[in-house]
Amino acid sequence: MNTVLIGSQWGDEGKGKIIDVLTDKADFVVRYQGGSNAGHTVIAEGKKRVLRLIPSGILHEGKTCIIGNGVVMNPLDLIEEIEGMRATGVEPKGRLFISTRTQMVMLYHRALDKAEEAARAKGKKIGTTGRGIGPAYAAKVSRTGLRCGDMLAANFLEKVREQVEETNRRLKMLKAERVDEGDQIEVPGCTIKDYQMDADEIVAIYKVAQEKLSPYIKDTVPMLHKAKAEGKSILMEGAQGTMLDIDFGTYPFVTSSNPTSGGACIGSGLSPRDIDCVVGVIKAYTTRVGEGPFPTELYNAVDMMDEDGKTMAERGHEFGAVTKRPRRTGWYDAVIARYAQQINGVDYWALTKLDVMDVFEKIKICVAYELDGERIDYMPTSADELARVKPIYEEMDGWMCETSNITRIEDLPPKAKAYVDRLVELSGGKLGILSIGPARESTLRIAL
Ligand code: GDP
Ligand code: IMO
Ligand code: MG
Repeated sequence: MNTVLIGSQWGDEGKGKIIDVLTDKADFVVRYQGGSNAGHTVIAEGKKRVLRLIPSGILHEGKTCIIGNGVVMNPLDLIEEIEGMRATGVEPKGRLFISTRTQMVMLYHRALDKAEEAARAKGKKIGTTGRGIGPAYAAKVSRTGLRCGDMLAANFLEKVREQVEETNRRLKMLKAERVDEGDQIEVPGCTIKDYQMDADEIVAIYKVAQEKLSPYIKDTVPMLHKAKAEGKSILMEGAQGTMLDIDFGTYPFVTSSNPTSGGACIGSGLSPRDIDCVVGVIKAYTTRVGEGPFPTELYNAVDMMDEDGKTMAERGHEFGAVTKRPRRTGWYDAVIARYAQQINGVDYWALTKLDVMDVFEKIKICVAYELDGERIDYMPTSADELARVKPIYEEMDGWMCETSNITRIEDLPPKAKAYVDRLVELSGGKLGILSIGPARESTLRIAL
């Protein structure tokens, strides 16, 4: 059985945790899009790890992990992650493979990401993670990107040099356009002086990366199809979430890839016919990090100080796993969930962080929106419209007791069970997993 797991909201739904749980039934775990903008937390055997590029299945011995062609892979971040794994006793070599077709995120993409964001006016900033994701995908589509397969060729470093020189020309223009107060951009790991990068320094950095990563690079398409022919089970790990999808999300406040389930085929080389099951990971409330509309938003660290939202942020430890930025929080939005169900074809929900809701006397669920005086139950296409909608809420009683120690779904407090049932009813699909704490053990497996 081949499963695609996707984020249903704006990312950080707990995908890393659920992938780790589902890996026990998989042979292969494949990342199919995004890059080190992702931060997937796995807490297992008392250790917390945040995975950015390596599939979250790596912690299970004997499982093969693949970074698929749809990913934009930052070689320097991957080396750091591999070394970090090694330091904690997990050896990726022999179990981790990167597709020859995977595009690379280079230091100059990170510089462009910073420079482009600095050139955007207030209100137009995306609040990117600064990881070079947008520029790397832009290079892919412009057909100037470097792929992992290029690392294996003799002229790789020459190509890097050409790209640095080309980027320096663009950075010069972006410097003139910047509207930010800061007059410099910085990227950890290299020197940028007056918006210019040193080609010799960058080439030397990638020479080392080339040596370290070459053994992991392989054509992964035949590997996956061989696995399939042998009846092995493949788990596809989405990053980000449906509302950050370049096509279906709150454009332009989105990432530059397709986190939705359709992206899993494009990003791996499996065909749509190979997918048996889609799991949508969804939090029992909503969060977002970065800019863009968020209809049920209650709290953000800048100007909305609602107490319920603050409680969600505190109890849910809602800070970016990598960037440490505070996440915005709000009530569960069933319009988003229904939309995610349709676009991804969610068979089963993995509902996470129910335990965060243990302390609320009353809990609201957004069931529809009001747009310019009219009730709508679909997702508007434009971010401006979504910014104008008012959520229409239904209210339920909270259960006011701890759920994180429960081991069987039957033991949930009746009001908690009613909340879960209502979310599933409003969202379509079926409940597959209920997560009631960050650790591997705090998981009720209902149908998966
Ligand atoms: P991802 O990007 O979707 O993998 O999610 P993140 O790892 O960025 O954020 C999810 C956060 O919630 C992490 O800190 C997890 O350890 C934590 N988490 C996951 N599931 C649960 C849960 O059911 N309850 C609680 N309290 N925390 C959870
Ligand atoms: P995981 O996989 C939450 C957001 C950024 C920004 C927008 C564009 O951990 O769920 P980018 O750097 O991708 O160009 O930024 O997307 N974003 C995420 N938000 N979780 C993520 O990943 C995210 N990856 C990107 O905050 O709003
Ligand atoms: Mg995350």
